[in-house]
Amino acid sequence: MGKLTGAEVAEHSSTASCWVVVHGKAYDVTDFLPEHPGGQKIILKYAGKDATAEFDPIHPPDTLDKYLDRSKHLGPVDMSTLAVEEKAVDPEEEQRLERVRRMPQLDQCYNLMDFEAVAKRVMKKTAWGYYSSGTEDEMTMRENHTAFHKIWFRPRILIDVEQVSISTTMLGTPVSVPFYVTATALGKLGHPDGEVCLTRASATHDVVQMIPTLASCSFDQIVDAKTPEQTQWLQLYVNKDREITRRIVEHAEARGCKGLFITVDAPQLGRREKDMRSKFADQGSNVQSTSGAGAVDRSQGAARAISSFIDPSLSWKDLPFFRSLTSMPIALKGVQRVDDVLRAVEAGMDAVVLSNHGGRQLEYAPPAIELLADVMTALRARGWERKIEVYIDGGIRRATDIIKAVCLGAKGVGIGRPFLYAMSAYGTEGVERAMQLLKDEMEMNMRLLGCTSIDQLGPDLLDTRGLSVHSVSGPVDHLSRSVYDPLIVPAERNLSKL
Ligand code: LAC
Repeated sequence: MGKLTGAEVAEHSSTASCWVVVHGKAYDVTDFLPEHPGGQKIILKYAGKDATAEFDPIHPPDTLDKYLDRSKHLGPVDMSTLAVEEKAVDPEEEQRLERVRRMPQLDQCYNLMDFEAVAKRVMKKTAWGYYSSGTEDEMTMRENHTAFHKIWFRPRILIDVEQVSISTTMLGTPVSVPFYVTATALGKLGHPDGEVCLTRASATHDVVQMIPTLASCSFDQIVDAKTPEQTQWLQLYVNKDREITRRIVEHAEARGCKGLFITVDAPQLGRREKDMRSKFADQGSNVQSTSGAGAVDRSQGAARAISSFIDPSLSWKDLPFFRSLTSMPIALKGVQRVDDVLRAVEAGMDAVVLSNHGGRQLEYAPPAIELLADVMTALRARGWERKIEVYIDGGIRRATDIIKAVCLGAKGVGIGRPFLYAMSAYGTEGVERAMQLLKDEMEMNMRLLGCTSIDQLGPDLLDTRGLSVHSVSGPVDHLSRSVYDPLIVPAERNLSKL
């Protein structure tokens, strides 16, 4: 079969007949237009043209094979005949590229906040908008981090701390340090290799990676990138179409995933206004489809555009269904109150993640570290502290934060944004360095605390008297000075464009 020419493709540029080119192949998406979870407007923008650059960060590479009938796969295009669009010079983008050229060397980053500050300068605005935003006024997002400042240590002295071990286990897997890479969506917004950067760095450091449902890489690419010894878990957004969910879970187990983390704090994604303002709506799309997806408001940023398939009717009643699907340990991710942890124990869950989704969901949901103190008290009162593993995520930037969580009773902590920032700025090597810095901090601080192994960490090493006071606008630290954006207001109109 001969290749299609650019002129042939360009003839199909309307709702009547719409073809797009992705990675050198043409696809007839006319019938798919109304079903596209990101809306048809964005597809029509690329009708008759090459859509690869827009397609890639948001769709795993197997999307077209999965969701578009083979008869609509039209075959290779002679790319030399495709009209190349003149891109207007964007002064903001020029400035960003200049900042990329001036980026600090990797070894100048000494802590996780440094990566965050570099990423802010070098990432594309839409990517930064999506990763860094929290819900509404970002009170919960900031409090997640600030809450750690309220716990102080009661270190022991004159202990032989020559040998310190920071290794532990999570859901039965031995790990080198009590943190894991938690699930975050759309890795290719930050780096062209996407989530596999996190996979490779996790292998280097012997930490667990939680694979996100909404990854930019396909699930199989992320699993293929792992070493035989490496452990991965699956984070699950439950689809309205349970058959899709069943296939995902069964496939994950068949491919060796060792834990299923069902997200329970996101029946609808929160309003991340920075993300909305960065006009991502234009590029909105989805990596999963759902039967009968209704009208989606396309004007609400990347988060809303990619999440229309998530089932808001998910409830406690569904948990036996997941149990029947898999023998992987099951965790509820995003538990936000004590009695829901107790209910999770009663429902036979293996773990919970106390989390408010990085401050991206309910504004004024409690910071996990604070909730953890109450949860462990309630579990211990019932003698249930060994019935379930408790994890937390949100706001962790230092090994002291991890140590505080483990002292309170967490089995480990999830870290999301900091690794994304390290990846966005420096790729796999950046993530590896970020993990190494945390390990170095961890070993040193264990030693200074008078502890030689994780099992020696307990609540008696902490002064938690300050925990009950919320302090969003409180201490001015590294992140508030160099990373947080001031909340913005609508931009003035550009009169020259009218
Ligand atoms: C988010 C989802 C997709 O927080 O996890 O954007």
